[in-house]
Amino acid sequence: MKCTRCKKLACVSLPSHHSGFCKDCYPLFFTRQVETAIRREKMFTHGERILVALSGGKDSLALMLELKLQGYDITGLHIDLGIPNSSNKARAKVENFCDMHDLTLQVLEMEKEGLPIPEVKAFINRPVCAVCGKVKRHHFNRIAREGGFDVLATGHNLDDEVARLFANTLRWDTAYLSDQGPMLPAAEGFVRKVKPLFRLTEFETANYAFLKGIEIHSAPCPYSGGASFTNHKKLWGELEHRSPGQKFQFYHGFLKRGKPAFPVQEETSGVTLTPCDECGSPTSVGTCSVCRIKATVRENKAKAEATQG
Ligand code: AMP
Ligand code: FES
Ligand code: ZN
Repeated sequence: MKCTRCKKLACVSLPSHHSGFCKDCYPLFFTRQVETAIRREKMFTHGERILVALSGGKDSLALMLELKLQGYDITGLHIDLGIPNSSNKARAKVENFCDMHDLTLQVLEMEKEGLPIPEVKAFINRPVCAVCGKVKRHHFNRIAREGGFDVLATGHNLDDEVARLFANTLRWDTAYLSDQGPMLPAAEGFVRKVKPLFRLTEFETANYAFLKGIEIHSAPCPYSGGASFTNHKKLWGELEHRSPGQKFQFYHGFLKRGKPAFPVQEETSGVTLTPCDECGSPTSVGTCSVCRIKATVRENKAKAEATQG
């Protein structure tokens, strides 16, 4: 196959775009997709400050590099979850990457926050991944808000978005369907949230990271037993193989025609939010859910230590 752009030998074929690219032209394809996402969804401008959540995986590091190359004002944020033999490796990849590309990075250690994820696993009787996700989103927003950032960007790609949309649709979860999308506008106490890679698949992002020589942390979280929505992603892999472009059509069709059918619900939009007594994050009750989780971990840990001692 020949490169769609320069007619040299292509190294990657993209059936959903009816094209193929050589290693020099592929990054241009990637850049165009990110530019289109930012422009069409009005994600941010060159005058705004962007906080980019960096896990150390291919998506968030590819996003960070691409936004740097596009000249945006970016700062990285890594949350060190404190998981033995895993978090240290992810953190090292993020730190090396930011050093190498001369990028500003903030690291938040969950250990120092009094909520290392192994303690969540040990002392909270709920699936650790759900709680961990909640804790991460809480700190993304808090740090963006306190640091005066205009927007928080994450590395979610098209496969992540399609799998989540599919799961929400299977359950007809109207509350989640009403705010799923690549751009969530700011609201009282919440910064704007964007997913500039939503037009690109996992394969397309991995290919960019590989061609740009980005060293990534690829081991899955030891607590999650693999990537999230694994089964749905497999199913969509088959659909896409049989009919290239299905993923994007499903997601794009939802944004254009499906989402308007799920307006923000009265019971959530009417709630008054006030700052959390402990951390200042917006909450509908006195103390926010993350501060309550922290308190429960503290209590249950103390009880466990008392019965052991
Ligand atoms: P995941 O839910 O693990 O697929 O991650 C989705 C996105 O969340 C990533 O692309 C990152 O932007 C962000 N993210 C996940 N984990 C972390 C972390 N420990 N620190 C900072 N950002 C993260
Ligand atoms: Fe949060 Fe694994 S439990 S990343
Ligand atoms: Zn709080």
